[in-house]
Amino acid sequence: MNPSSCRLIVLLSGQGSNLQAIIDRINQGELAATICCVISDKKDAYGLTRAQQHGIPGQIIETSPGETRIDYDQRLASLIDDFQPDWIILAGFMRILSTGFVERYQGRLINIHPSLLPKYKGLNTHQRVLDAGETEHGASVHIVTPELDDGPVISQEKITIHPDDNAESLKQRIHRVEHQLFPASIKLLCSGRISYNKPALAIDDSDITTPLTLSHLAELV
Ligand code: GRF
Repeated sequence: MNPSSCRLIVLLSGQGSNLQAIIDRINQGELAATICCVISDKKDAYGLTRAQQHGIPGQIIETSPGETRIDYDQRLASLIDDFQPDWIILAGFMRILSTGFVERYQGRLINIHPSLLPKYKGLNTHQRVLDAGETEHGASVHIVTPELDDGPVISQEKITIHPDDNAESLKQRIHRVEHQLFPASIKLLCSGRISYNKPALAIDDSDITTPLTLSHLAELV
C-alpha cells in the first residue's frame, strides 16, 4: 500500500479525542493518510463537530426503531463501501458489531480499548482496574474479531497506577496514552507491514507474539 493513499474511515459515538489525535498527526505531516469520512451512530457526538472543523465529511447513521443489528450493520457497511477504505478505525464506537460485519472487513477493522487486553474487556475498565487493586493499567490497539475486545493485539502501552488515582484521573491519563498509541499504530498499518492471517498477526513475515509498545512503534515507522 502506498502510505500517502492510505484511506481511513473513523467510526465513533462520542467526544472523538482519538479522532482529533489522528487528525493532528495527519496535519503535522507525521501520518500519511486521508480520513475519508467520520461516521457516528449518535447525532450529537462531538467527534462529528471535530470532523466538520477540519473539512472531513461526517455521516450519522442512527438506529431506526425496530431495526435489527444485522440491518443496521448492513446500512453501515453500504456507506463504508462507498469510500473504499483501507482501514476502518473504531475510535469510541459504542456499538457491538455483528459477526457478518466483522467478517466482511476481517483484518481491516481496528479498535482502541482502554485496558491491557486481554484483561478488562468491556466497559468501565478504569474503575474495575482500581477495584481489583492493579498496579498497572494501559491501552491496547487490536484487530477486531467477532468476540468483544478479543482480537489480536497490535500495540499496547502501560502506565503505573498512582496511589491517588481514581477512575477520572485514569481516564485522562489513558487518553493521553491513546492519543500517542493510536496514530502511531495506524501509521504502522498504513505502511503495509502488518498482516492478519487468522489467527496470526505478523509484521513483515514475523508473527507478533508480544504487543508493540510506543517505543517499538517509533523505531518501526
Ligand atoms: C477511548 O477511551 C477508547 O479507548 C474507547 O473509547 C474512548 C473514546 O474516547 N474505545 P474519545 O471519544 O476518542 O475521546
